[in-house]
Amino acid sequence: MAKKSSKHFICSECGTNHSKWAGQCDCGQWNTIVEFKESASRAGAVSAIARGYSGARESVQKLSDIKPEESPRFSTKNPEFDRVLGGGIVPGSVILLAGTPGAGKSTLTTQVLCEVGDNIECFLVSAEESANQISRRAERLALKTDKLNVAIETDVLAILTMIQEVKAKFVVIDSLQAMHHPDVQGAPGGVGQLRECMQVLTQHAKQNDVAMIIICHTTKDGSVAGPRVVEHIGDVMLMIEVVAASRFREIRAAKNRFGSTSELGLLAMMPDNGYLKAVTNPSAIFLDRSRDAKPGSMVASLWEGSRSLLVEIQALVIDSHQGNPRRLAVGIDQNRLNMLVAVLVRHADLAMYDQELYVNLVGGLRSTDPSTDLPVVLAMVSSFINRAIPQDWVAFGELGLSGDVRSVPSGLERIKQASQQGFSHCICPKGNVPKNVSSSMKVYPVETLSEAIACLEQAY
Ligand code: TYD
Ligand code: MG
Repeated sequence: MAKKSSKHFICSECGTNHSKWAGQCDCGQWNTIVEFKESASRAGAVSAIARGYSGARESVQKLSDIKPEESPRFSTKNPEFDRVLGGGIVPGSVILLAGTPGAGKSTLTTQVLCEVGDNIECFLVSAEESANQISRRAERLALKTDKLNVAIETDVLAILTMIQEVKAKFVVIDSLQAMHHPDVQGAPGGVGQLRECMQVLTQHAKQNDVAMIIICHTTKDGSVAGPRVVEHIGDVMLMIEVVAASRFREIRAAKNRFGSTSELGLLAMMPDNGYLKAVTNPSAIFLDRSRDAKPGSMVASLWEGSRSLLVEIQALVIDSHQGNPRRLAVGIDQNRLNMLVAVLVRHADLAMYDQELYVNLVGGLRSTDPSTDLPVVLAMVSSFINRAIPQDWVAFGELGLSGDVRSVPSGLERIKQASQQGFSHCICPKGNVPKNVSSSMKVYPVETLSEAIACLEQAY
């Protein structure tokens, strides 16, 4: 039998294997296929039976015979980080933490390592910063540092040995792009290096029940720099982003094998020392009720993961002198805005087709929650007729093309949260009206867009 070559080619975008080089990959990307040499240990695999594998039947069991174990998670001591992780870190899991430079990856992980508790052996491996820099950061953040093991290393095999020697159960690697495997050719950050480093780290994490957070750099479009396969190998993939150039950071899960990917975690960077603190009441950040109510503003109750978020929606409707009036949506989907305008024109009889329209979700947030339909439309109506809606009014509900207002999930929780935040009037779909509602909240159940607009008459 001819000896199979251990040399092959991989697309750095999608991770597909190719037997020979080509200019374009099947994923459509150009110039992303690069040569990859398999490490000696994995080259030349022979058939499993020839290598003496037997007794496989015993490893196969009926699903009903397997008793699920409750995975014992440990808390990061940061409630917002725990929330996006699905309730804490699962031992043996591999978490990728990606974000732009300065987003706070090193800060957050150093904090978590120092605060995670006394009974978990923690280890920080950095290839990006010197021991001196790490120490200065910990001092600036006023962290308890006596329990944390630190090493500056780039060789993954050396790192694995260190992890074993210090018996670490929670490891942070900063960053994957700076790591290298001695058996793989190519500079750190290359496709082959990233893939191999990720693979050996993950294997070690699984076999030894070591939880790992692996920090990754992102490209301009926000995806992890390197092959997609890196994302596939990890259990959880988190993105940390700066919210609209503010001191707030949002963490979202792009992938989570142990929890939901719809949770949003919010952190605030303390102005004095850069400490990333969990934001306990996110609605307070996105609402500014210190100013007078202005036309074109309405508060929406968004649903993010498992909680509601009260956010102001602003709309500006002005006469257009162009044949094709401008319509701009910031924070909500542009196509959704176009659809809402069509519904307004058709079912509310408002002549908006010749108006320029701008809609903004205040605070730099983005939402795909369809329950923003009703507050967006009401904000546009308020701007169009130039009458302000009082600041203690809130709305939520999805709008159908026939002008009907549809129920959305978690109506009761949204109303409760709004009431706790001091709102006293809520326009919502009829199907979302709870049986018992706090006496301090007046609920306006609506079935159609015209009914919702009519409710505003009581507000002006
Ligand atoms: P860092 O964790 O280094 O970011 P990353 O690892 O994601 O590149 O966080 C850098 C943030 O910390 C940056 O936004 C600025 C802030 N910072 C301070 O607030 N004070 C300081 O003294 C320093 C050095 C940084
Ligand atoms: Mg860093």
